[in-house]
Amino acid sequence: MGGNGDGTKQGGMRDGLTSYGDPGFSLYLRKSFAKSMGYSDSDLDRPVIGIADTGSDYNNCHRTMPELVEAVKRGVMYAGGLPLAFPTVSLGEPFLNPTSMLFRNLMAIDTEEMVRALPMDAVVLIGGCDKTVPAQLMAAASAGIPAINLVTGPMMTGSWRGERLGACTDCRRMWGRYRGGELDDQEIGEIEDSLTTTAGTCMVMGTASTMALMTEALGMMLPGGAAIPAVHADRLRQAEATGSRAVAMAAEGLTPDRIMTPAAFANALRILLAVGGSTNGLVHMTAVAGRRGIAVDLEAFDRMSEETPVLVDLKPSGQNYMEDLHKAGGLAAIMRELGPLLDLGCLTVTGRTLGEELDARPAPWPQTIVRPRSQPIYEKGGIAVLRGNLAPETAIVKRSAATPELLRHTGRAVVFDSPADLALRIDDPDLDVTAEDILVMRNAGPKGAPGMPEAGYLPIPKKLARQGVKDMVRISDARMSGTAFGTIVLHVCPESAVGGPLALVQTGDRITLDVDARRLDLLVDEAELERRRAAWTAPDPHPGSDRGWLKLHMTEVRQATGGADFDFLVPPVTAKTPV
Ligand code: FES
Repeated sequence: MGGNGDGTKQGGMRDGLTSYGDPGFSLYLRKSFAKSMGYSDSDLDRPVIGIADTGSDYNNCHRTMPELVEAVKRGVMYAGGLPLAFPTVSLGEPFLNPTSMLFRNLMAIDTEEMVRALPMDAVVLIGGCDKTVPAQLMAAASAGIPAINLVTGPMMTGSWRGERLGACTDCRRMWGRYRGGELDDQEIGEIEDSLTTTAGTCMVMGTASTMALMTEALGMMLPGGAAIPAVHADRLRQAEATGSRAVAMAAEGLTPDRIMTPAAFANALRILLAVGGSTNGLVHMTAVAGRRGIAVDLEAFDRMSEETPVLVDLKPSGQNYMEDLHKAGGLAAIMRELGPLLDLGCLTVTGRTLGEELDARPAPWPQTIVRPRSQPIYEKGGIAVLRGNLAPETAIVKRSAATPELLRHTGRAVVFDSPADLALRIDDPDLDVTAEDILVMRNAGPKGAPGMPEAGYLPIPKKLARQGVKDMVRISDARMSGTAFGTIVLHVCPESAVGGPLALVQTGDRITLDVDARRLDLLVDEAELERRRAAWTAPDPHPGSDRGWLKLHMTEVRQATGGADFDFLVPPVTAKTPV
């Protein structure tokens, strides 16, 4: 948003005028039409705060959007501003085909362009479900006006026959038991009713929870905002305070470039590791940082992982849920434990530093959810970065959610050519597979699937599941839901659809995973690989990729190491993180 194209900026309704060739006429017309909605001259003289309203009947996680928008509006008005909500694309994980990730950049573009095109002095971005918060952060980083994030907040847990349940670690665990024949149709039906019983986002340390905590650590959210449950009264108070703060940010001209610094991204990445967060957090924060010309240095991130313990006892790495983290003090409790591992001098949306905000939080109290650094859930960070001839440009593994004995394993590859091929054959009783084998799936990356779906959690073949096999090494160029668990190697780069080595693996090849050594290697000699490379042909184009969004996606999308953002949206790299 930048004045009227002639360098003048007067604020509020007077900025970003519609082009009629006569600015006076444009303002007169705008005010006249705004008055048709009942606004007075006094209303229209106030600073304008846009509110990105992402409510949708296709997004259960945003069910409380109407009351959140109302609370933000209240806060804006108390502080003397004019709140104006506007709709954007909304992405509800389970409703989008083939995957919400295909549309994250669409939401980012939509949000950025509306923030630019509509008159507003600051914007409140309300998101929650997995891709919405990254899309809004990307938009904020690119649009450049004062921006503040608010999330819908996590769901409360449910229960089934006395067992506490939460989405979606327990969704997967129970589905695994059903596949293994331990639960019948009646029982899985009852569980379906009991997993997600309130408004809000998935309440384990999945992508939504991870992104909320990373956003608060980045400094883009009011302190304490990440973990408040969706249905808690504190959530509405947080929304109101966010609205009020947006008015002050507009007056101060506190823009995201002052908050989103390399050190702030390093803080966010540190939190990703310390909470045992979703691997998606790395892809998304890479995309957000990219919008600021900041590259994520994966080698440095891996070193950070070595010195950052997992402290938070939440599923899938631990046992509890986001409502427990809120009761334990939320992000502040984690940051206090990490202390010197964070840069507490980073500026936040409050205009104060992370350290100042931390000092202002209530003193810690006894709790068991955030562990002391001396007694971590896992001694090292949740995510490790791998390299090797199977992943020349890296792959990642969430070691905190893996089976320790499988972190060093050599096995025979059983290859699936695509997610569709996997669905077709994984449960075939005649599938030649044992528990020691390594399941490999390709053509599931940013271009291959397309959209890099959360298909990396390859199911255990039914015949092995029925024998009690709970985990196997699984490798793909896909992503994985942050709620999932297992010894799963993801984001293999370059992806197979662009000719990465994953395209060359054949069933029967041997593969070695050695997480301590950070290696992922295909034990096939280079001459044979060269023969296979020469014979390789790219997959057929996806149906529909000759036009529209899919065409743009296929042309522009970067690999996972580039955050899967679009090339033309990313400025040249000028800095790196972690620092
Ligand atoms: Fe929206 Fe899980 S489905 S956060």
